[in-house]
Amino acid sequence: MSNYHIKHLEEYFQVYRKSVRNPESYWEEIAEEHFMWHKRWDNVLSYDFEKPEFKWFEGAQLNITENCIDRHLRTRGDQTAILFEPNNPDEEALHITYNELHDRVCKMANVLKAEGIEKGDRVCIYLPMIPELAVAVLACARIGAIHSVVFAGFSSTALATRINDSNCKMVITSDGSFRGSKTIDLKGIVDEGLKKCDSVETVLVVNRIDSGVEMKEGRDKWLQPLLDTAEATCEPEIMDAEDPLFILYTSGSTGTPKGMVHTTAGYMVYTAFTFKNVFQYRDGDVYWCTADIGWITGHSYIVYGPLANGATSVMFEGVPSYPDYGRFWEIVDKHKVTQFYTAPTAIRALAKENLEHVEKYDLSSLKVLGTVGEPINEEAWHWYDENIGKKKCPIVDTWWQTETGGIMISPIPYSTPAIPTFATLPLPGIQPALMDEEGKEIKGNQVDGRLCIKFPWPSMARTIWGNHQRYKDTYFSAFKNMYFTGDGALRDSVGYYRITGRVDDVVIVSGHNLGTAPIEDAINEHPAVAESAIVGYPHEVKGNALYGYVILKETGETRNQDNLRKEINQLISDRIGPIAKLDKIQFTSGLPKTRSGKIMRRILRKIASNDTSNLGDTSTLLNPEVVQEVMDNVIK
Ligand code: WT7
Repeated sequence: MSNYHIKHLEEYFQVYRKSVRNPESYWEEIAEEHFMWHKRWDNVLSYDFEKPEFKWFEGAQLNITENCIDRHLRTRGDQTAILFEPNNPDEEALHITYNELHDRVCKMANVLKAEGIEKGDRVCIYLPMIPELAVAVLACARIGAIHSVVFAGFSSTALATRINDSNCKMVITSDGSFRGSKTIDLKGIVDEGLKKCDSVETVLVVNRIDSGVEMKEGRDKWLQPLLDTAEATCEPEIMDAEDPLFILYTSGSTGTPKGMVHTTAGYMVYTAFTFKNVFQYRDGDVYWCTADIGWITGHSYIVYGPLANGATSVMFEGVPSYPDYGRFWEIVDKHKVTQFYTAPTAIRALAKENLEHVEKYDLSSLKVLGTVGEPINEEAWHWYDENIGKKKCPIVDTWWQTETGGIMISPIPYSTPAIPTFATLPLPGIQPALMDEEGKEIKGNQVDGRLCIKFPWPSMARTIWGNHQRYKDTYFSAFKNMYFTGDGALRDSVGYYRITGRVDDVVIVSGHNLGTAPIEDAINEHPAVAESAIVGYPHEVKGNALYGYVILKETGETRNQDNLRKEINQLISDRIGPIAKLDKIQFTSGLPKTRSGKIMRRILRKIASNDTSNLGDTSTLLNPEVVQEVMDNVIK
């Protein structure tokens, strides 16, 4: 029986039982057999939920890029590691072999060193989906610098907040990016953002769109000339198992974004193991995850997990709608993609278009389909199964989070019978628990509650950068000796899990995790706005969309309401990014509040969702009369 590669249901149950009975020996065996270590660990796991502190493979030494690159060179140096498909279908795809990836990463690593980057320094990467993004990530890991990738759709303010939070010394960006028929001025956004940052000494700029941007003397440098003269070998920095590998920001329900810190050994072992099993990757396969490396999905399942397995991983620069809605399927056909991993929102958007866009292409190479980021509805699931998988490809509905580092609950293809809308069963080593509001575990089946994980797993985030107390408060305080996910879930009669959605003030829009508080903060900056409340409501394509209730300072505000709506959305775009824009904005004279002054979002959510049959008792509110007003003026 192989612990590393599970091939049928009986094997899953055996492996799962073993993994739960003795997690240490389970993970130890995997770590021993499948990776390259400079020094063995002294201790597989030590943990303390109170502090909270979790250490995996303590005492071990390694470099993750040796595991992702060097050790494959002898056996598969000429195999494609990264298959880059450009935005423009007429531009040639780039097959970067493991040998070439090695040289590129080493050159970039040497450039970083020459620019004064040392082990432990933070490097912000703000790049579109071009090979340099993956290379920059790996180059940081090569020299022990901590990468902080910021999704290149975030605004200059959002970028600055993230750079300042972790005091990044360098930014790696490009002159601009291609996105469908548009170009985006990334360098301009960086310049704007850096007006508010003191820590950045150097900006390395990739020339992607030849837009001839302005370079700031002494700070900005074109990357290519530096790479051209750099050495193609770079000794890997030997890292301790628990040295930070990267920071990745995720929105919280309140306040500033949380810089989740992932460390080296556990993250490597877990992402590699889950990649292999969840996608049943085999030599010769061509795996494609459509996410952006700016999100955790891209970190774990475009870069680290696939490369640790010596896989071929497709990186796509463009969008699903350019030059037409057949682009995804054209790429699957062209590169004979075997595993395809995307978000429900993309499936729903593509399912709305003419089927001709699918039928034009040969999708017979596909073996496994995956989804991630939000619940998938039944209709989208069946469309995916019938039209893309032709009913022959298992679908893996993978539940996990930025904080978990890797996939937690998911079917294993050919092992776990899939049921639409169910993420099904926990992966080996993962021990979910459903909790009630009193903090008691709900045992048995056909129950629902708050989803927690009751035992540590190797790829869990270890802290929030610069704020360990917030890490404790957010994830380990709601329930004793448990990690709280923020999601609700139900467990059906056979023990399958279905994620029912967030139970906090986070809204998942098109698979993007958005905190409502930072959006409200942005709106409240508008001089005409007194107060606001944001809630999510169901949306056909995006899963959820954002609905804003806004109180203006002067009731007699004479400005055109549509102009105000535009200004508010512009502010949100500037402060956070276009993904956080509101679909509907209702102006109101008041918001329902409890007697202690807390906004009753539950009521606002129901009104925005057009579900007012059961609002509950509103008589105890501070201002019950406002509920009727809000309902009367709801935007349909
Ligand atoms: C939140 C985490 C994990 C990578 C992408 C998102 C929701 C994620 C599923 C799924 C239902 C899901 C949860 C979770 N979510 N996957 N398969 N079914 N909901 O990472 O931005 O950290 O968001 O996404 O609500 O808590 P993230």
